[in-house]
Amino acid sequence: MTSDITPFSLKDTPALIERLMPVQKLSAEAYKEQMAGTGKTLTAIGSYWKGRKPLILNKACILGCLLPATKDLKRDLEVFEKLMAMDDESFVVRWARRPRPKEIVAAVSIAHIRDYFIIVPTDGLPESGPVDWSNPEYQDVEVTWRADVSELERRRIEAQMLPRVPYRERVDAAKRPEEVMGTVHQHIWDAVNTHLGTSACSFPQLIEQLGIMRFGHRPRVADTFCGSGQIPFEAARLGCDAYASDLNPVACMLTWGALNIVGASKKARAHLAEAQEEMVAKAEAEITSLGIEHDGQGWRGKIYLYCNEARCPETGWLVPMLPNRVLNKVRSIVLELIPNAPSQRYDIAIRTGVSNAEMVEARQGTVHTDGPGRDPYLVHTLGGIEHRTKLSTLRGDYRIAGGTIGNKLRMWAKSDFKPKPMDIFQERLYAIQWMRPTKSGRGEEYEVRAVGESDLERERIVEDYIGRYLSEWQAKGWVPNMRIEPGYNTDQPIRERGWTYWHHLFNPRQLLVGGLLNQFSGAELKLGFARVLNCNSRLSRFTIGGSGAAMVTGAFDNQALNTLINYGCRGMRYALDIADADYKSFELSQKVAYNIACHSAEQLSTHNDIYVTDPPYGDAVKFEEILEFFIAWLRKNPPLEFSEWVWDSRRSLAIHGEDEDFRRGMVASYKRMTECMPESGIQVIMFTHQSGSIWADMANIVWASGLRVTAAWYVATETESALREGSYVKGTVLLVLRKRTGTNKTTRDDLAWEIQEEVASQVADLTGLNQAAKGFYRDENVFEDADIQMAGYAAALRVLTRYAIIDGRDMTTEAIRPRIKGETTLVDDLIAFAVDTANQCLVPQGIAKPHWDSFSSAERFYLKLIDLETKGLKTLDNYQNFAKAFKVRDFRAFMASQKANQARLKSAVEFGKTEMSEASEFYQSALRAVLYALMELVNDLDGGEVLAHLTLNVPDYYSNQNQRYLVVELADYLAKKLETLRPEEATAARVLRELVKNQRLG
Ligand SMILES: C[S@@+](CC[C@H](N)C(=O)[O-])C[C@H]1O[C@@H](n2cnc3c(N)ncnc32)[C@H](O)[C@@H]1O
Repeated sequence: MTSDITPFSLKDTPALIERLMPVQKLSAEAYKEQMAGTGKTLTAIGSYWKGRKPLILNKACILGCLLPATKDLKRDLEVFEKLMAMDDESFVVRWARRPRPKEIVAAVSIAHIRDYFIIVPTDGLPESGPVDWSNPEYQDVEVTWRADVSELERRRIEAQMLPRVPYRERVDAAKRPEEVMGTVHQHIWDAVNTHLGTSACSFPQLIEQLGIMRFGHRPRVADTFCGSGQIPFEAARLGCDAYASDLNPVACMLTWGALNIVGASKKARAHLAEAQEEMVAKAEAEITSLGIEHDGQGWRGKIYLYCNEARCPETGWLVPMLPNRVLNKVRSIVLELIPNAPSQRYDIAIRTGVSNAEMVEARQGTVHTDGPGRDPYLVHTLGGIEHRTKLSTLRGDYRIAGGTIGNKLRMWAKSDFKPKPMDIFQERLYAIQWMRPTKSGRGEEYEVRAVGESDLERERIVEDYIGRYLSEWQAKGWVPNMRIEPGYNTDQPIRERGWTYWHHLFNPRQLLVGGLLNQFSGAELKLGFARVLNCNSRLSRFTIGGSGAAMVTGAFDNQALNTLINYGCRGMRYALDIADADYKSFELSQKVAYNIACHSAEQLSTHNDIYVTDPPYGDAVKFEEILEFFIAWLRKNPPLEFSEWVWDSRRSLAIHGEDEDFRRGMVASYKRMTECMPESGIQVIMFTHQSGSIWADMANIVWASGLRVTAAWYVATETESALREGSYVKGTVLLVLRKRTGTNKTTRDDLAWEIQEEVASQVADLTGLNQAAKGFYRDENVFEDADIQMAGYAAALRVLTRYAIIDGRDMTTEAIRPRIKGETTLVDDLIAFAVDTANQCLVPQGIAKPHWDSFSSAERFYLKLIDLETKGLKTLDNYQNFAKAFKVRDFRAFMASQKANQARLKSAVEFGKTEMSEASEFYQSALRAVLYALMELVNDLDGGEVLAHLTLNVPDYYSNQNQRYLVVELADYLAKKLETLRPEEATAARVLRELVKNQRLG
């Protein structure tokens, strides 16, 4: 298979990702994947992990590192798009359904229908299509594909039926490539092999061959910040050997699950199903023998609802704490609190099918707040008198020196698993949802009931059981015995409930269910077990879905450890539902080797060819804290497969924040990866785009790590509304890096020249590729302005990071030097300079380059921003950036609105007669004269008069022929740009264009 593949033949060839990346299309694809929610390939492994990097983006990065950039960039792009299933023929397969032969014949112009189709009866249709099927003569004609028409030919014909809509819309309507993975690539291999000199007919074959050509073997792709495993999984799925590591063992476990469950063979999956069945049988047997979930009437407890209870200081009554009394708004079920004077407590009854008025009334619970940020209070009415007590009063909040708040909650002890009688917050079971099989045997029926004596008896059994076995189970590692270390997120349960050990976050039933499942599960079942923990703790919310179905949701539906005043607890059956996830299946190639290790990135000791990493830059999520929720359960008795990992979050080694420590950690990590990479190796670092300063920051980090930047791309991965906001989207930046060799020196002055040249050539390359691609088959730009600006940044970094010493300063030391807040560094300056240069090169379409070069700063600014306004961009930053780039002194003079997100240029009419004087940056410019003319035409001035004014306003109108051409071009440009923005001015611009064109001279 690999006989004519020459090892190392691509060793020195730039990678495709260093030259191009169809970022617009990739953004659409990445967004589609992000929006797939639970339909995402790896989400079932652990939905509690947020911030998964889209697999399609990872695929693009890995492929982009392996594929060569040849002299024919256009062809490179086409082949890349085929491999990404972004080409037309792939969309045929990605479409909801393929068109039938009759539909094709009706829609496509085909010279000889019989070249492709068998027609019965043979003479039933005309020679060529399209065919009008409404003709009654064709009523009984049958059309089928000829067997000798290849799949590629079929797809080519069918592709003509795809709607001609922008790529984003096409992606919206299509399946994701991985949803049709088995077939989508069938047509590409001839084209791919011809271009690359390979002989592959699958991804693993192609990857192996490219790896041999680049590195001499199947490529080894590593991710040392692997998180949920999105990058290593995609690497392995493509056919690379993969190395995944993370400081956090839960990340390792998720990655393990991705590779060993979603990537498992059919046999391994069958084994998993057997293991699952075995676990269910054992757990069910225990629960049944304890008699804690069955009511003896055929019903089984599905959901147990608990709330806190607190003593009202005014009345001495114990009041159940409920945000409202609605139990199910779809089925009109409410809770009723019935005062029980002898016990100074409320009985809780359940009423079904109540009136609308009662439903409204039930929205009021016993815990209210008067608005966001306001202190909630406990409220109840006895004998017509309302009693209110702030929760802060109940807790006994007090201010500690230094501004923090303390309270009088008792800190729970290790042996505790429920409140003690004197605790401020008690806990109470207040309702149970029961289930039983329906009589027909199809599905289940449900019933919610108040709590009775027999229920309380069953509660006592559970509590006694946990009381008896807690310490034994802790010693065996079946339930947690780990302290909650204080921290940003972990302080919350300590402060709000007095919980000091992780098992305090679980009630006795939850400890029992969790303990049994932990006991009976091997490695492949631990992923399901962790899912259960997420959805069955004191932090698990009880909700009612739109259909009226009751649910208990995940503690990690947000990324904090929020305590709840009422929560849902799953019975074993309902818990097992979630343990048995419907994992997707993508069997990995047998040849692929992968390894998962638990260590900090700087402790890396294996050598890899490619690193694709998504480091914890400015992570909002404190994984190292919140994942202790799971670590606490797994650390003492991990299955053999996970036993080498350090079951501790090692918070002090986790990289986070953005300050010096962060930079030092990052440099140590990337330095190590660079050391563990061959000369021909390549890295891609992904990070979230937050602000301009991140550029300089990341540049400094990679620089200090001995790397140099070779390209950078920006992929919008966030929400649709954000996408529409253009370049101010929070997306992902891809920084492409190589090893830096030698200690090149330069000066700042030389650098400026070099940057200018590099930026200009990069911009020319990309705009050139836009043009080339347009001529071929696209009607959309491959790159937008924002991408080209980005390429400008990248070009600057490319130049900068070639050098180790600038103006005698060692840049490695400079990179990790502590910063003063607000300080602008040399690197910041040079990058800003590069961006300005890139912006200057961005000639709007419709303006000839020589004319552009002759325009003043103000003219360029106005023309460019009109162009962006037509694309719907309205943020003031844009105006500021371009004003800076074009060196406009005061762009405000040209603005009709300077609102942050509603900025807008003045129209010709709004300019009126202003900005004509010597003081204006528009003074004596052709553009100002044209705008003046438009204003006059809109105001219905006679054409001859308008022309007369124009000839006066445009300097050298008669003596310089070029000035007239310029006016025509400007009028034409404005006519097009203003078409939807200001139709009246657009019409005026067309009139002006014709007036000038038809003007008789001499
Ligand atoms: C942004 S996340 C990676 C997310 C991943 N790409 C995904 O798609 O799920 C960053 C990861 O870095 C890990 N991490 C933090 N500090 C680390 C260190 N010093 N060494 C290794 N991993 C670290 C965190 O545990 C976290 O899993």
